[in-house]
Amino acid sequence: MLDSVWTKGVQLPDFPSLEGDTKTDVLVVGGGMAGLLIAHKLTRAGIDNLLIEADRICHGVTRNTTAKITSQHGLIYDKLARMFNDDTAKLYYQANQDAIGQFRELAKDVPCDFSEQSSYVYTRHYTVDFEKEMQTLQRLGIPFELKKETQLPFPTDGAIRFRRQAQFHPLLFLQAIAKDLNIRENTRFIAFDGSSVITDSGKIHAKCIVMATHFPIINKHGSYFIKMYQERSYAVALVGAENLQGMYRDADPKGLSFRNCGDYLLLGGGAHRTGKTSDGWKPLENAAAEYYPKFKISYRWATQDCMTLDHLPYIGQYSKRTPRLFVAAGFNKWGMTGSMVAATVLCDLLEGKDAPYGGIFSPSRSILRKQLLINGVSSAVNLLTPTKPRCPHLGCALKWNPQEHSWDCPCHGSRFTNDGKLLDNPANGDLP
Ligand code: FES
Repeated sequence: MLDSVWTKGVQLPDFPSLEGDTKTDVLVVGGGMAGLLIAHKLTRAGIDNLLIEADRICHGVTRNTTAKITSQHGLIYDKLARMFNDDTAKLYYQANQDAIGQFRELAKDVPCDFSEQSSYVYTRHYTVDFEKEMQTLQRLGIPFELKKETQLPFPTDGAIRFRRQAQFHPLLFLQAIAKDLNIRENTRFIAFDGSSVITDSGKIHAKCIVMATHFPIINKHGSYFIKMYQERSYAVALVGAENLQGMYRDADPKGLSFRNCGDYLLLGGGAHRTGKTSDGWKPLENAAAEYYPKFKISYRWATQDCMTLDHLPYIGQYSKRTPRLFVAAGFNKWGMTGSMVAATVLCDLLEGKDAPYGGIFSPSRSILRKQLLINGVSSAVNLLTPTKPRCPHLGCALKWNPQEHSWDCPCHGSRFTNDGKLLDNPANGDLP
């Protein structure tokens, strides 16, 4: 079944579409985890807000996550300390730990299979990077343990453990969070004209606008199309396999990730830039056959993540020139805590408060030239490829994805069905 394990038996609330012009203080565009958490926090703070979603809420990447709530994002801390400095790495940790705490509090009132778990980054071959990560964690005072033994079905050279992290059922959580929010579904953002947002169902005048559309879809500001790209990755759910008592991820980004969910064991992996050739679910099927030969794959699905070039999300003012326009994007595969951090930072900014974590996520931070060049060259090659069909976002050549029977754009990751219906943005409509 090409659907995630989360969709089983969950009935999300329905909302009407917009009918004609309206006004609000804060307009949130996008009904995934980030948009819904932002709207939820604004509502709790007593700020008038409206959320619009082009389709139904949670119909994008939110239903395809592996829903790990953790501040352990691979070997991130040494990278951040080297690319920025120790203070930035420490603030990143604190922002994500704070997000875990907020999920823990909310889950007290929301039945969503929330459970505390340890998170592990394991390595199958001890590397310098693994060693450096532990040195950096120690220097920053971030609590961790090195485990020599794990519950994984293969030997490792050790695993870095973070205690008191968590996992949950994202759709059960959002089912409860969304029901009291002011939402208009099937209302597509068309344009921002500087004072109002134009949708396919009317104009919305808002004092402030937050774009939480997965990939930011306004091209005129912020240049997100040169400072982000998208990756696809795959997941399967095996029924009845053993409980690993924790959430695991390979230190090698090409490796496997594991977590349990009720009777299922979720296996993830196979990441690649959207639009590039891949083996789809094959590596996961092979791993399942090798390590869990007695158990059947009951679900398989794919997901799509926005990747930034410096490993930090973009949360804050959309660009220096747009004081009323904000963004939450680029969670680099860690969309649960990333969304909560975004909701915290943006609500602080919209309430006019100090946002203690805001500085490190500022979308106007300078971008490292080398990464920008590599990303730019990759897009330029696809832009100059003379084949059809072309992507309506910025005109790159689309590539056929034989695994998922879709047309995928290697430039910024838009995707379309075989008959041209939009699957993933930043394109904002079907193929002509
Ligand atoms: Fe940007 Fe296709 S997604 S050109």
